[in-house]
Amino acid sequence: MADEVPPPAHQVPAVSISSDGISSSTVQKARFSDRVRIRSILGRPDGGAGLAGQKVRISGWVKTGREQGKGAFAFLEVNDGSCPANLQVMVDASVSDLTKLVATGTCVTVDGCLKIPPEGKGTKQKVELSVVEVIDVGTVDTATYPIPKTKLTLERLREFPHLRSRTNSISAIARIRHALAIATHTFFDEEGFLYIQTPIITTSDCEGAGEMFQVTTLISHTEKLERDLIENPPPTEADVEAARLIVKARGEAVAQLKSAKASKETITASVAELNEAKASLSRTEERSRLKPGLPKLDGKIDYTQDFFGRQAFLTVSGQLQVETYACGLSDVYTFGPTFRAENSHTSRHLAEFWMVEPELAFADLEDDMNCAEAYVRYMCKWLLEKRYDDMELMAKNFDKGCIDRLKLVASTPFGRLTYTKAIELLEEAVGKGKEFVNPVEWGIDLASEHERYLTEVVFQKPLIVYNYPKGIKAFYMRLNDDGKTVAAMDVLVPKVGELIGGSQREERIDVIMERIEEMGLPVEPYEWYLDLRRYGTAKHSGFGLGFERMVLFATGMDNIRDVIPFPRYPGRADL
Ligand code: 4AD
Ligand code: MG
Repeated sequence: MADEVPPPAHQVPAVSISSDGISSSTVQKARFSDRVRIRSILGRPDGGAGLAGQKVRISGWVKTGREQGKGAFAFLEVNDGSCPANLQVMVDASVSDLTKLVATGTCVTVDGCLKIPPEGKGTKQKVELSVVEVIDVGTVDTATYPIPKTKLTLERLREFPHLRSRTNSISAIARIRHALAIATHTFFDEEGFLYIQTPIITTSDCEGAGEMFQVTTLISHTEKLERDLIENPPPTEADVEAARLIVKARGEAVAQLKSAKASKETITASVAELNEAKASLSRTEERSRLKPGLPKLDGKIDYTQDFFGRQAFLTVSGQLQVETYACGLSDVYTFGPTFRAENSHTSRHLAEFWMVEPELAFADLEDDMNCAEAYVRYMCKWLLEKRYDDMELMAKNFDKGCIDRLKLVASTPFGRLTYTKAIELLEEAVGKGKEFVNPVEWGIDLASEHERYLTEVVFQKPLIVYNYPKGIKAFYMRLNDDGKTVAAMDVLVPKVGELIGGSQREERIDVIMERIEEMGLPVEPYEWYLDLRRYGTAKHSGFGLGFERMVLFATGMDNIRDVIPFPRYPGRADL
């Protein structure tokens, strides 16, 4: 009977997989296109078997394709980025020219019927698609396509930031990254924090480390001016003098007409000519003052002529600004890009990275540590629940232990120890023959090798080191009663080292003023920050989690350049 034929994919109602885990027998269509996502077929608890007999339209890129039966039909492994698994697609030669479909990288949109694959074919898939019609093909020039069937190294893939999302690993990382971002917003929303957008362009250096990228239009303006001055040389002193003489002559003409009691119209016309001459003189004078090079005042660059009328930078952290909202709205967070012009070539540093920075009002360092720990553990649980298939891919391809690590972190409290104790443990290790490149003594900034030794070897789990020497930490951290340490904390995790840096903030105006002076920082740029302490000061704390470091930690990837879509590091800013 005609009405038993399944409706075309775009007419299939969007029925979701029921929450009790029993699959609906109706396929879920993407809402804003007429295709079905491969995830809604293969990601079902039954692997899609319950959809056998349904007609669907799918789109995606061919991972591998092979003609079989002497060109009678072809099998394509198609992936649309919705999940790590490929859908097996069977096309008969009577349906389409197979040669244009099989090349890796080809984009296809096909209508077909889902079928249970014949047994004994060795396929793991519970369902495959038998194509009825090929709707669209985006062909590929196999001679030049840079992403072949065989695996390229991650390093080589970085050469193709515009194409690497086609690979299993980079697409799995993108989905994991997305999940971590959603987990972040969900966690803070559930805990009553408000999401605040802090500025990317800033005029204050949060960390006081002088690692900021400058934002300026002075250079491009200067270049434009220099070009212009070559094409239209500036007026000479003689040109200015000539313009002055014209003004003089026209002034005299007006005076003469007035004393001769000429008609009103004649005088008005003459005054207009005079005004025009004056305007021309002022333009000529102005242009004659133009000089090549950056504008200078007292030998220094004159930033009053820059876009913002002052020096501006890309932010290294949204903390100072988000504090202003914490001291008014209580619990808040910011999540945005941050920029550091440090010349680091390590696998843990980027020049542009994303940071999640909560700020908790009426909270001390311990509350801050509790929040950081709960947040990291929440993200680990979230990934295990929402992206297990992608985590399995990471475990298979990169880091066998990554799923166990997520489970461990989700279920085990973090270690906590003071900086002083951490130094003792490191000194003990040195005493027992452990060799570090960087010498260990109280007062040093812990190097990555020290951090990783503590978390990977001594504790074998994440740990929080707190109460650091004030000399190695930022001015805004609260001075402890010992006068030597500040209420700072770092969360250290295996594989990565420092994942989070945070602190209780110095809320006492006199103490913070002293710290700013002690560190030789100028007070003027921080006046607004000090106002938070002058008016209704509040105990508050916060931290920053390096988002890419969290992706590294979760996935077990080795290089931070592979866990951000478009990495920026010294010498490299593609696209
Ligand atoms: O420890 P940091 O410098 O702390 C701050 O910026 C504070 N203002 C945060 C706050 O209290 N609101 O940086 C925070 C985290 C580090 O722990 C690290 O994970 C990450 O940011 N991070 C980087 N990630 C990638 N590339 C870099 N160059 C990074 N520098 C810091
Ligand atoms: Mg830090």
